[in-house]
Amino acid sequence: MNSSDQINRQSIIPTFDSVGVLRKLIDTHKWAHIKLFHGSSSFSKYPFHADLEKLLREAKVESYTVKPSDLNVETISKIVRQAKTKHWDAVVAIGGGSVIDMAKIISFLVRRDVSIEAYLKCSARNVDIPKQTILGASVGRSNDKASGAFRSKRFAVENVSKSTLSVSSEEIIWPFIAIPTTFGTGSESTQFATFYRNQQKQSMDHPSLMPSIAILDSHWTTHLKGITFSSVLMDAFVQAIESYWSANATDESLYFATQAILAFAFFFENEDCLNPSIQQRMALLLGSNASGRAIQLTKTTACHALSYPMTAHFGVPHGIAVFLTMPGLFHFILKANDPKKLRSNIDSDQFSQRVSALKTLLGFKTPEDAQTYFVNLANKLKINRSLRSYGIDEKHLSLFVQDAFAVSSRMGNYPYQLEQEDVYKILKDAL
Ligand SMILES: [Fe+2]
Repeated sequence: MNSSDQINRQSIIPTFDSVGVLRKLIDTHKWAHIKLFHGSSSFSKYPFHADLEKLLREAKVESYTVKPSDLNVETISKIVRQAKTKHWDAVVAIGGGSVIDMAKIISFLVRRDVSIEAYLKCSARNVDIPKQTILGASVGRSNDKASGAFRSKRFAVENVSKSTLSVSSEEIIWPFIAIPTTFGTGSESTQFATFYRNQQKQSMDHPSLMPSIAILDSHWTTHLKGITFSSVLMDAFVQAIESYWSANATDESLYFATQAILAFAFFFENEDCLNPSIQQRMALLLGSNASGRAIQLTKTTACHALSYPMTAHFGVPHGIAVFLTMPGLFHFILKANDPKKLRSNIDSDQFSQRVSALKTLLGFKTPEDAQTYFVNLANKLKINRSLRSYGIDEKHLSLFVQDAFAVSSRMGNYPYQLEQEDVYKILKDAL
């Protein structure tokens, strides 16, 4: 199964009543054993927290509060071992990227009855891990007799408004529900997850990591304010643009990237972008989800590659870091006039049409419009645009260039072949 099939298998439920949707799912499927992974701050700030607590109590949900530092081999291993004595009918993740990533990894490993160490060995040998439990869909011991309803039932959700949420399906879909509490990652709709091993970041990329249901409720995002709001929003916006111009873009990825860019560009026309209504937040959440689905297909490009050292060495918030080089990298594409520098898999005529369409989506006519647009956007979102304001100086730029080219896959997704001096100039202009 490829990524695109997996995206189509996911049910996305936009709602202003995520607690009501969860209750309906639990009641309809008679889930008696639910494992919940959630964050701390965003979870407690949910405006209808009392209703949620009541549901969790009534459904006897077993909760685990995920800390960002939990995303390591030792903690994952411990939770997977503990799960061997349990039975879960469904897994629910409510949180940001770390929480959803943790739930993805644990669900995946527990469902396949393998340890993280075994996964790492398989991954190192580039072989898929065993699927012995995937169709049995029983979590915990595969010989568990008290496996509950889920083992024998097919499961799918097509439309939440249907009185019964059970729809015939040839696939047994694992009941794994993700409720994002932030914009930006799109993690609820991607097949990626990251964790740490000996302080080194490791990526998991597998179709079975994708949650089967994503519930999008903008009330969960009301805790995002000020620069945190600006940062996560820029992550999703930049990601959508990167997907649009990516060397890996497909008709499908362009469809999702277009949805995302339109949602964000429409929102940015407001004079006050820092106090969005709940409806505007919903539009941004949908845009963010579309951005995640786009990037699932294309991966990110040079903005992301250049952002990592800014965050690692200077603490620049991730979404701000990816935004800082967006104007320069966008300008480079608008000014580029050598088709020979385009990646070999890109048709130059088709790409110039794609760039024209991107300009239209954002309302640019000239390269200078792009510069003005990003300056205005930064002002509206109160983002400092200069690298110097984050303590970055000219003497650091060579290191950034080296680090970025070390992430060659990301740089290779940028549609033009960039030389080190091109990147240096873009960074210098951003000082
Ligand atoms: Fe990002």
